[in-house]
Amino acid sequence: MLVTGAAGMGKSAVVQALYEPLTARRGYFIAGKFEQFRRTPFSAVVAAFKALVTELLGESAERLNRLRNDLADALSPNGRLITDVIPQVELITGPQPPVEELGAAETVNRFDAVFRNFVRVFARPQHPVVLLLDDLQWADAASLNLMRGLLTDEHQSLLLLGAYRDNEVDANHPLTAMLARLAEDGGTLPGVALKPLSTDDVWQLIRDTTSASMVEAAGLADLVVRNTGGNPLFVQELLKTRADDGLMRFDRTAGKWTWDDLAEIRAKGFTESVLDLMVARLGRLDDGTRTTLQAAA
Ligand SMILES: Nc1ncnc2c1ncn2[C@@H]1O[C@H](COP(=O)(O)OP(=O)(O)O)[C@@H](O)[C@H]1O
Ligand SMILES: [Mg+2]
Repeated sequence: MLVTGAAGMGKSAVVQALYEPLTARRGYFIAGKFEQFRRTPFSAVVAAFKALVTELLGESAERLNRLRNDLADALSPNGRLITDVIPQVELITGPQPPVEELGAAETVNRFDAVFRNFVRVFARPQHPVVLLLDDLQWADAASLNLMRGLLTDEHQSLLLLGAYRDNEVDANHPLTAMLARLAEDGGTLPGVALKPLSTDDVWQLIRDTTSASMVEAAGLADLVVRNTGGNPLFVQELLKTRADDGLMRFDRTAGKWTWDDLAEIRAKGFTESVLDLMVARLGRLDDGTRTTLQAAA
């Protein structure tokens, strides 16, 4: 399943909310996200399985023994391909011998096939795996290929959840190509496109957060939606900024938030993009903190 929407629309929040219902009875929920500036191939997929293997290391000796056998059956003689990217697997399987040298294309195909076998060890009917891959707009082509392989592998008890900013994925994006190839092979992914919060949603959110009266909340909700387009991240940031600037205050005696003049809130204006938002937030830090952040970056 694919969840789409612009930055801040709530994609990560909604897929993470599936954790409880999907794992309530059995199965594993694992997640990884792709990074904009660190495009190591397979990073998100590897991160997800690293976490799973690390968790499984705490299982009983008997279960680990069974896992060792299953992994040997599934991976041999190419276990090294997996332990090279997920070193924790070696703690279960022991060191793996070097693999045969192949040409470039064969090397890629072999990796994908071995990785599919690896996933199959974990994704079984008695304990299905939910694999969440977040920020697919930054996925590398190799990961997308692997993902397509996993999606077309019928022997998996695997639910793949992907989230991405559809407004940053155009016709030339590798994700578009991957989805097109998947469709050619007869595979389709159901999609959920997140919509902005409505004025009613924001009204409800403000009432829950501030304990304001219905009328007070209505005026603010209207203003907030007009300034944010109902993007949940912007809604949250706008309210936080107003509180930081002292335009909204917590009244301890009344036990609720108050604000006196909507005009005053309105006059402050608001930023339109995540970038502006981050820049504005950094701008509110003191010099010392900014210098430290700069050094760390
Ligand atoms: N339906 C919602 N109601 C209130 N807040 C939300 C909602 N969806 C998301 N948020 C909040 O908005 C912010 C952005 O959500 P996030 O899931 O990180 O967006 P995305 O992954 O699409 O960039 C988060 O702080 C999240 O908790
Ligand atoms: Mg996200």
